[in-house]
Amino acid sequence: MKANELRRKYIDFFVSKGHTEISSASLIPENDPSVLFTTAGMHPLVPYLLGEKHPAGKRLTDHQKCLRTGDIDEVGDASHLTFFEMMGNWSLNDYFKKESIGFSHEFLTKVLNIPQEKISVTVFGGDDEIPRDTEAYEAWKALGYPDERIHFCSRKENWWGPAGETGPCGPDTEIFYDMGKEKCSDTCGPTCNCGKYVEIWNNVFMEYNKQKDGSYVKMDIHNVDTGLGLERVLCILNGEKTVYDTEIFAPIMKGLVEATGVEINSENNRIFRILADHLRAITFILGDDKGVSPSNVDQGYVLRRLIRRVYRHLKSLGSPDGIMVKIANIIVDEFSPVYPELERNRAFIIKSLEDEERTFSKTLDQGIKIATKFLSNVAEGEMLSGEMAFKLYDTYGFPIELTEELAGEKNIKVDVEGFKAQYQKHQELSRQGAEQKFKGGLSDNSEQTTRLHTATHLLNGALRKVLGDTVFQKGSNITPERLRFDFSFERKMTPEEIKAVSDIVNEAIAKDIEVQMEEMPVEKARESGAIGVFGNKYGENVKVYTIDGYSKEICGGPHAQRTGELKGFKILKEESSSAGVRRIKAIILTEN
Ligand code: ALA
Repeated sequence: MKANELRRKYIDFFVSKGHTEISSASLIPENDPSVLFTTAGMHPLVPYLLGEKHPAGKRLTDHQKCLRTGDIDEVGDASHLTFFEMMGNWSLNDYFKKESIGFSHEFLTKVLNIPQEKISVTVFGGDDEIPRDTEAYEAWKALGYPDERIHFCSRKENWWGPAGETGPCGPDTEIFYDMGKEKCSDTCGPTCNCGKYVEIWNNVFMEYNKQKDGSYVKMDIHNVDTGLGLERVLCILNGEKTVYDTEIFAPIMKGLVEATGVEINSENNRIFRILADHLRAITFILGDDKGVSPSNVDQGYVLRRLIRRVYRHLKSLGSPDGIMVKIANIIVDEFSPVYPELERNRAFIIKSLEDEERTFSKTLDQGIKIATKFLSNVAEGEMLSGEMAFKLYDTYGFPIELTEELAGEKNIKVDVEGFKAQYQKHQELSRQGAEQKFKGGLSDNSEQTTRLHTATHLLNGALRKVLGDTVFQKGSNITPERLRFDFSFERKMTPEEIKAVSDIVNEAIAKDIEVQMEEMPVEKARESGAIGVFGNKYGENVKVYTIDGYSKEICGGPHAQRTGELKGFKILKEESSSAGVRRIKAIILTEN
């Protein structure tokens, strides 16, 4: 089976069960300061999983581009990837465990024709706080799964979410495919990582909202959030050994062999897989409409790490420069029929890769020499100081992970804490800060962040009034304290322009205008002059928020009811974000 057919079969199946197909969202979360990338299909749906009404209804399905860096060290084994596609279906306070399990069973065994004997499942076994999930167990039993293939597991295995510190979560049931290998021991089961069992689907029953204090509050709604790994399912359906052997990766592997002139063998196999995985991740990050480019903070830093890792591995194969671009072009050709943003952003992808390659290649050779010299002064089993690691970072652009990798090859550890201390001294926004974002809570829907969200719409509208309608939103990030807004504009704003923009926003606040919301098909939204992401599928319903005279945007919400709730607005900073992109940080006032 081909990837396209699998995507289609999945979506068609869930549409036939009353679900509406929604578009894959950006790889960069909107208005969510707590995460750098979309890590699961549920991510763009968090407000709806907390009770907000979704314009497309209560049953949704999609295939979502996702990126996870947590498993980066496992990339190159049989089943781990940084970038992957997650097919998902959701029930927003509609059907629950029995139906969800029934849908998964039917899709796997009747549509994909996977023999039921090849499927094992795990179910939440309960603990002091949350009871054992007998409902999920009964549902599997009723479908004919014997007890030997239904495993009760602990919270560590069978609880999913929240994606950050707070938010929707719940017990899950995970579905595993038996690869047919011998059991590695008597206790070998789905949670064993010997490779016999591969997790393919996770059905999460989201009934809880985790609070900042660590407690779980039962919500008065019940949702289902599922995720099926496209690459993994394709791999097992076609009887391939690893995800890298699927047709998804075939053109990339072929391109790599041709471009490097190196044949794949058992020794360099893993390097090729890492290259293929990372280059796909890189192309999709750069190919997102958000315009992320390599930098030293946030998404840009992850991107830089991936690019530099690829570059170094290519050098270890003895390759000339220019290969990253060749492979990126192949990836754009392959995936743009499904993800058209890649074609739209092809020139940006290529230029960013060329620029980063030029910058890094200048210093890499010399940096490796210096790193080798630093490391030669450290005995095996000892530690390279944080100061040295920082010098390599600061002078030669070595991400700390690259230094760790070079050191690891010599069995030397790196004082990462010491590095972080040095780093913090030198950077406004530390890498640790970026790491915290992976751990932080998902966008809270507090009144303050809701108001800041409305302020962001007013700011967007005001910028377009003052600077012209070539201004487009490139990114938005809201914490309870402030908003941060990135937009396309070539030069620094003048103080007069900044004042004019603030004045417009404050004028809208003073008028205490009602924030109106209307649901309509995306074409109608476009015709009505609404701005926002138009990646949506034809016919898809979207929400349009209007602040009469000031703003009209497609957006998921939530928003303040009236602009007067904002009290006042102040721009703290206007600065460069990346080439052609400016950044504004602003606050709203709480007192009149
Ligand atoms: N959100 C669930 C996961 O990522 C489905 O596994």
